[in-house]
Amino acid sequence: MTAALETRDLSVRFGGLKAVDGISVTVEDGRVLGVIGPNGAGKSTFINLITGQIRPTRGKVLVAGRDLTGAKPWKIAAARVARTFQINKPFRGLSVRDNVAIGAMFGAPGGGSVAKARGVADEVLERLGLSGVAELGPTELSVAHAQRLEVAKALALRPRVLFLDEAMAGLRPAEMEPQLELIRELRREGLAIVVVEHVMRAIRSVCDTVLVMQEGRELLTGPPDEVLADERVITAYLGQRYAERQRAERAEAGGSGPAVADQVGPRPEGETRAPG
Ligand SMILES: Nc1ncnc2c1ncn2[C@@H]1O[C@H](COP(=O)(O)OP(=O)(O)OP(=O)(O)O)[C@@H](O)[C@H]1O
Ligand SMILES: [Mg+2]
Repeated sequence: MTAALETRDLSVRFGGLKAVDGISVTVEDGRVLGVIGPNGAGKSTFINLITGQIRPTRGKVLVAGRDLTGAKPWKIAAARVARTFQINKPFRGLSVRDNVAIGAMFGAPGGGSVAKARGVADEVLERLGLSGVAELGPTELSVAHAQRLEVAKALALRPRVLFLDEAMAGLRPAEMEPQLELIRELRREGLAIVVVEHVMRAIRSVCDTVLVMQEGRELLTGPPDEVLADERVITAYLGQRYAERQRAERAEAGGSGPAVADQVGPRPEGETRAPG
């Protein structure tokens, strides 16, 4: 079977910085790949390379077997690859509904017609429980609704490959669950999904495979439980001293419980983490 998404040796340099360095992944239809790693590891840049915001200096991007390396964002969108942005950038002058309609307008489902695009927007808003705020401006939304709007914009493209770049940042645990359920549902519908998150509980509960990035490179890839218990991952995330202290504490307690706490990870700026 041809994978929905494949990257081969994907790399980009910014001057002397190898921001993404030789990343190869395969994501099949109906599978969720998690991408974790410390701040600055290259996670968002990895998405940018695939969705056309940045051109790679080396490597390949294949969508359903088609070579889309270095293609413009609208070409990638037309191939039904959609994404959210880590920093939300809604059109402030437009309603929530029209922000979503714009996504549909430029993707295949809207077919360039405003009426059709609004129809698609209404469907997506309904599905995401945003119908009640459709006529508000994006700045009037709660954090949870603003994050949902980003997902709605992406879904309006009717993607087969979906990238979520910290779409759960700032959410309280109770607000996170509907977002996780939505990811599970989209997965069941056959979407290939790439989830970039610092919230480990989210990663653990939706991902089939987790890629850990560090300084642009792959540190390791594997099933969530294995990866999150790996000493190298703990060290990369929390620093050497924390890892040593934890190891000592575990040895003292005589246990070998899961090493990575559910909610560890550096926090994206501005995120308020609720106790969890
Ligand atoms: N357009 C750019 N020009 C130059 N450097 C860049 C550019 N985009 C990203 N970088 C650098 O590349 C590295 C990777 O950044 P990136 O945003 O991909 O990290 P990240 O893993 O998404 O981090 P975070 O968890 O904080 O979102 C960083 O050192 C960043 O400063
Ligand atoms: Mg990022």
